[in-house]
Amino acid sequence: MITIKSEREIALLKEAGHIVALCLEAMKEHVKPGVTTEELDKICEKIILDNGGVPACKGYEGYPCTICASVNEVVVHGIPSKKQKLREGDIVTVDLVAGYKGYHGDSAYTFKVGKVSPKVEKLLEVTHDALYVGLSKVKEGAHLGDVSAAIGDYINQFGYGIIDTYTGHGIGREMHEDPAIMNFGTPGTGPILKEGMVLAIEPMVSMGKKDIRIMKDGWTAVMKDGSPAAHFEHTIVVRKEGYEILTYNTL
Ligand code: MF3
Ligand code: CO
Repeated sequence: MITIKSEREIALLKEAGHIVALCLEAMKEHVKPGVTTEELDKICEKIILDNGGVPACKGYEGYPCTICASVNEVVVHGIPSKKQKLREGDIVTVDLVAGYKGYHGDSAYTFKVGKVSPKVEKLLEVTHDALYVGLSKVKEGAHLGDVSAAIGDYINQFGYGIIDTYTGHGIGREMHEDPAIMNFGTPGTGPILKEGMVLAIEPMVSMGKKDIRIMKDGWTAVMKDGSPAAHFEHTIVVRKEGYEILTYNTL
């Protein structure tokens, strides 16, 4: 069941989303060669706690950290580690969820570590733009399939892989609520959007094939063909004539 949030709930979701945005904004100065993904995790955890939030991923189905830090061919759910130092030319996706007074904000951003190759630059640009192409279809009365199809059709023009093992999702009191939001689809299908639905939309795109495997830690999702992957995500609320981003950041 897809729930409609009240304006009171949306205000709390926006508080949660703002805490996530503060974390991602802080990553801009900290993501550089030599930093470890564990250091990034600690910085985000402190920001969340300092702002009265809860690191919602920590302990979620046994996940051990505050953020997911997914480097290069890792697409999602990379576990931060003190052994993992970022290097010039890497990309790292920081994906995190903050809880605030029982509500959640979820957002992800793929950062460049120093200068990256033009091919990787393009992958990041297309994945970022795919999120906004999808968002442009969001408004009351649209079908969810309109959003999914817009994302998928945009990405397919570039011949990239669209990860189908993971999806966007509703969000609210729970980190993951209905509906699942595929990153490809057919216009005019799926549930009809209504004002007050809160959705996390998150294209996950690889430079090569779409297939992933999970590493022995049970979390890390890595591209089977070793190709780099990118991921951009915002939590948004459906409005009558469009949408409002609840995890808005200045990146
Ligand atoms: N944004 C991630 C997701 O929607 C959050 C993962 S937290 C984890 O899957 F605990 F599941 F890792
Ligand atoms: Co999410």
